[in-house]
Amino acid sequence: MSAYITLDTGYLKDFVSDKDIKDIMPEVMNACSLLKDKSGPGNDFLGWQDLPVNYEDADLSDMEQTASGLREISDAVIVIGIGGSYLGAKSTIDMLTPVLGRKKVFFAGCDLNAQYLKELAAFSENKDISIIVISKSGTTTEPAVAFRIFLDIAESKYDEEELKKRVVCITDSKKGALRELADARGFKSYIIPDDVGGRFSVLTPVGLLPAACEGVDIRGLLAGALAVRNEADGGDPDKNIIYRYAALRNILYRKGKVIEIFSNFDRRFHYLSEWCKQLFGESEGKDGKGIFPASCDFSTDLHSMGQLIQQGNRNIFETFIIEQKESAGCRIPHNENDLDNLNYLSGREVSFVNKQAYLATSEAHFEGGVPNLTVFIPEISAFYLGQLFYFFEKAVAVSAYILGVNPFNQPGVESYKKKMFKLLGKPGS
Ligand code: PA5
Repeated sequence: MSAYITLDTGYLKDFVSDKDIKDIMPEVMNACSLLKDKSGPGNDFLGWQDLPVNYEDADLSDMEQTASGLREISDAVIVIGIGGSYLGAKSTIDMLTPVLGRKKVFFAGCDLNAQYLKELAAFSENKDISIIVISKSGTTTEPAVAFRIFLDIAESKYDEEELKKRVVCITDSKKGALRELADARGFKSYIIPDDVGGRFSVLTPVGLLPAACEGVDIRGLLAGALAVRNEADGGDPDKNIIYRYAALRNILYRKGKVIEIFSNFDRRFHYLSEWCKQLFGESEGKDGKGIFPASCDFSTDLHSMGQLIQQGNRNIFETFIIEQKESAGCRIPHNENDLDNLNYLSGREVSFVNKQAYLATSEAHFEGGVPNLTVFIPEISAFYLGQLFYFFEKAVAVSAYILGVNPFNQPGVESYKKKMFKLLGKPGS
């Protein structure tokens, strides 16, 4: 088994030439220099590059201890956050824990869905709960609303000493309402480093603590990220998969492929695609530029989006994220009557059928005019998920610099907020 994720670009032939890659390479190398020398726009947000080395073993042990303490005393750990303060933990837990397993972690504050909050609040009334509230700014409306609701429930059940065991805040070291509240109430808190933006924070306590609450091997995540970090700037630039992926996306974009679909054949990848959508959308979509990141869960979406991908507007390219290991233990049974004509598959693993579906889809989409590439991970594990996180983070930073935008800001998200605050009558808005 390969020690690393790999990139298969076979179905880009006819769409991207060797000359295209040669021509863009100076731009790739320039983007990499901007990251290395910390001389590009947004250079005060480059802390994510060093997260796989910039931590103390004691910090990880502390997080593991906190997580196991919360698990022990809670029927439900309510994890509150949105955007970069949500998607990393959600994708990690969905990827690395059993699909139908009973979860301790319940997410809230990632929208303003009253029905969901009402049901989760009712569920929490008769349960022992803990809360992990995550917000770098400490002022985001959605998590602030959810935190009010669940803190109120917790306050009605527990005294101040007990609350200190059950409420954990992950926020800025100095500023914001959440920092003030954590300090004033004496709640345990973890810091989101100043130089790490929300969507790049999965390998900080933002992603690690909630994941540890579900028993995820957080050291494995960091080890995987470190493995890719060590490779990230080295070797032959033509073979470096981060450089290649960043280069190929920009080549395709310049040829009118303005939509990238992150496609998987395993529902455990669904939230990783959501994480990718945020990472790429918020990092690249500005100054009138940007590839629109979309996602599909196959084979389900082959029966809906498959038509458009195969024959619609040819402005799409596709990035498959695929596990190479075929999961065993779910075989198609033999049936004497064979009324469904499925005996030609009897004895076969369902994962074998799924693999043929992927092979067929990537070829069909290519033939239909959709260039596609595949990021293979040898198997689903914390180590390889850590690799994927670092791979995509570095790739989007390089890619956005090639595109000519600041990967690390998101000024556009303020526009709706200003209007919403006005409608809500927020003082000073
Ligand atoms: O990438 C980002 O910076 C954003 O998506 C934030 O993570 C999101 O808006 C949540 O912000 P905060 O953690 O400040 O509540």
